[in-house]
Amino acid sequence: MTEKKLLPQHVAVIMDGNGRWAQKNKVSRLSGHNAGMLAMKEIIKKADIMGIKYLTVYAFSTENWKRSAEEVGGIFGLLVKYVASELAELNENNVKVSVLGDWRAVPGAAADSIEKALKTTANNDGLRFNIALNYGSRQEITRAVRKISSLVSEGCMMPDEISEETISRFLYTGEENEYIPDPDLIIRTSGEERISNFLLWQCAYSELAFTDSLWPDFTPDEFESIVEEYTGRSRRFGGR
Ligand code: FPP
Repeated sequence: MTEKKLLPQHVAVIMDGNGRWAQKNKVSRLSGHNAGMLAMKEIIKKADIMGIKYLTVYAFSTENWKRSAEEVGGIFGLLVKYVASELAELNENNVKVSVLGDWRAVPGAAADSIEKALKTTANNDGLRFNIALNYGSRQEITRAVRKISSLVSEGCMMPDEISEETISRFLYTGEENEYIPDPDLIIRTSGEERISNFLLWQCAYSELAFTDSLWPDFTPDEFESIVEEYTGRSRRFGGR
């Protein structure tokens, strides 16, 4: 068991490889996403048990709309199913759900489920489980720039007053979600080694970990061993 003080405060995960897992197991892509959802449930439990404070998962990117209508609809259908079956338990476990991204633009039933999850868990103070949904980092930064520009054009802020903190404040991880700290560790599964428009501002000093496991095969034990390996890394944030 890892000492609590060494644990990453915030772990973010790029859950990649559902499609390849489906192909490997000769099932539909949607079955792959369903298996991915089951894996996600186990990782949330594990993160909670380990005492990690923030867990963020990349569930749907602003680029994922390019997939077939069937697959997109299927992923949002899974979200509805997930909230219906898991919300009570998440709430009992004091988990607080947040969504990063333009979630109001997702199909109605999924947006309703999200609203319910946010409301039900709003006052919880256990694990912060953040779902990046219809999220893209460039979109997030563009949106922040627009908000800051409005303040400047209304005369509420001078250009010289814009600092790194101002930009952080207007990201999804800022004021509107009670300031989620930058991820200490970002894990990507499936052997791909890239960030794919995920938390670009916030990952400036994140440690990165890649594994060949396809997301549905990613186990709580592997999660724990990656976190364990992270605790041995030396983080200098540009200093010595
Ligand atoms: C990436 O695998 C995964 C996704 C785009 C969807 C992630 C969704 C889930 C894990 C389940 C749904 C959970 C919620 C909360 C909606 P891929 O399809 O890109 O895999 P591939 O690269 O092998 O094709």
